[in-house]
Amino acid sequence: MSEAEGSSAGREIWIEKYRPQTLDDVKGQDDIVDRLQSYIAQHDLPHLLFSGPAGIGKTTCATAIAREVYGDDWRGNFLELNASDERGIDVVRDRIKSFARSSFGGFDYRVIFLDEADSLTSDAQSALRRTMEQFADNTRFILSCNYSSRIIDPIQSRCAVFRFSPLPDEAIAAQAREIAAAEDIEMTDDGLDALVYAASGDMRRAINTLQAAATTGELVDEEAVYTVTSTVRPEKIESMVEAAIEGNFPRARSTLETLLVDSGMAGGDVIDQLHRSAWEFDIDERRTVKLMERLGEADYRITEGANERVQLEAMLAALALDDEDA
Ligand SMILES: Nc1ncnc2c1ncn2[C@@H]1O[C@H](COP(=O)(O)OP(=O)(O)OP(=O)(O)O)[C@@H](O)[C@H]1O
Ligand SMILES: [Mg+2]
Repeated sequence: MSEAEGSSAGREIWIEKYRPQTLDDVKGQDDIVDRLQSYIAQHDLPHLLFSGPAGIGKTTCATAIAREVYGDDWRGNFLELNASDERGIDVVRDRIKSFARSSFGGFDYRVIFLDEADSLTSDAQSALRRTMEQFADNTRFILSCNYSSRIIDPIQSRCAVFRFSPLPDEAIAAQAREIAAAEDIEMTDDGLDALVYAASGDMRRAINTLQAAATTGELVDEEAVYTVTSTVRPEKIESMVEAAIEGNFPRARSTLETLLVDSGMAGGDVIDQLHRSAWEFDIDERRTVKLMERLGEADYRITEGANERVQLEAMLAALALDDEDA
């Protein structure tokens, strides 16, 4: 390691330091990577539309494509823009135009990566579509969004659509192990399990959690991971639900209290964890179905601005009352 690296290594952001540089290094998106590699091999890149939740490799695949197509020149042939740029679609279009018109370094086309394309209104998307057509000869677009349903049909039909899924646990675990080894960090098995659980398919979250946990002490164990995330052991959430189902509302309520106060979870974090873990709880299926129904209601109300503590307590109360008519 060089001196410069040595002095800054501790502060470097690991999500950037360990961002895969090639498509081969992208974890857990094998089908997508295969399809992208075959376009590159055939020198036939269409416009692409990447959709899916945060932190799973959309931007990473776009930059990896650019590196593979252009090699060391990639930065000069790849323009990254954010569609939610507050200066508006006109600024975005102007930048696209001047990039597409500027002189070329021997390649047939350049790549424009437009992040958060679903933040554009449909009028702005129509304007974008015309821009895409205008520069179709020498420009390829890669659009990235969280929800492809928010992209107008005429754009979707001009793109090869790639739906990125949350990453499988093994992909997250493999990357976390690699980074821990490279950074010389000791991580316990339960620490890795907790990390994978807290990440919930989001690699960015996994890596940021690992980095945060690594700065809290020598060892990344379960405790360290739960401390730096708004997550608790699934058993704790389960015990709250069980108490409610057994009709012990005061105990359920006090567990909720510790989640919100001692563990610093937001109402939405409790809901997310309940949603993810409910099917693994040791409760009968009918109860789980009831829980899901209540969860949906509480989630909606909290999103609409209702008081989260009131909603969560009401959910537990409903579970406790269900017991009486069972
Ligand atoms: N499939 C993956 N394999 C390895 N690392 C990954 C993968 N996906 C994401 N990462 C890591 O997480 C970071 C964030 O990923 P990326 O920028 O690709 O997310 P994204 O899908 O574009 O999310 P967003 O919708 O928030 O823009 C990367 O810098 C990389 O370190
Ligand atoms: Mg991105």
